[in-house]
Amino acid sequence: MTANNETNADTKIIRIRIKRQDTPDSQSYHQDFELDYKPNLNVISCLQAIAARPVTVENEDVTPVVWDCNCLEEVCGACTVVINGRVRQSCSTLVDALIAEGTGTASEPILIEPMTKFPVVRDLFVDRTRMFENLKKISGWVPVDGSHDLGPGPVESPESQEERYNLSRCMTCGCCLEACPQFQFDGDFVGAQTIGQTLYFNEHKTGAVLKNERLEVMEQVGGVSDCGNSQNCVKVCPKEIPLSEAIAKIGRQVTVHTVKQFFTGKS
Ligand code: SF4
Ligand code: SF4
Ligand code: FES
Repeated sequence: MTANNETNADTKIIRIRIKRQDTPDSQSYHQDFELDYKPNLNVISCLQAIAARPVTVENEDVTPVVWDCNCLEEVCGACTVVINGRVRQSCSTLVDALIAEGTGTASEPILIEPMTKFPVVRDLFVDRTRMFENLKKISGWVPVDGSHDLGPGPVESPESQEERYNLSRCMTCGCCLEACPQFQFDGDFVGAQTIGQTLYFNEHKTGAVLKNERLEVMEQVGGVSDCGNSQNCVKVCPKEIPLSEAIAKIGRQVTVHTVKQFFTGKS
């Protein structure tokens, strides 16, 4: 391997720079690693190779880089990191595409960093608990208790199924929150992911029984009115979830709910 490759085609070496952090409270730092190029590598396979041989370009033995992953097929959301400044999944990001963008060389390494909107546990592994807590806040479930036979569920129209199928594809990856200017590390705003899931459960015939409770969360500080409508979220969602439409629909549902509360005095 060489520390000075400029063209991947000539040297068949890829340079990767990783932002590391040893503990949740310690200072971050960067380390560079080099790997032999192979076609069709994804970023996770590079991280695996670095874990197998954690030696920097300065030939220093270091601790293996820590990251999170599970499904390896862009379904679980766990491997989300910021690669070359764009939030995305390490399992579905191909190194060939990053090289085609001009990175992977000694002067322009592929830069892999943890998301900034969640606490770092270690290196690239962040704590995404906040998203799951927000789903609890909006009662992100269909309330069907018991193991007894409930009979057939309510009939859903094909249009509703289609709309909810799109929303159901959310994998709680956090991309939409990382890209959102309104979603802050310590802020109240729940972000596009929770708003999308609010619509998902409100539009379910049985899930709608908790619609008012969900809309009460959405009408408070941190709810849908905190969205600044920049639409960064929809641009980075790997599942192409129609987040702008979801935000607009929940905004309308909140308005109707607030007007009803005003006239009836009931929630
Ligand atoms: S539209 Fe903009 S402000 Fe609203 S959730 Fe999406 S990224 Fe955030
Ligand atoms: S809405 Fe899209 S970007 Fe946001 S958490 Fe779900 S899958 Fe990820
Ligand atoms: S490992 Fe599950 S989305 Fe990448």
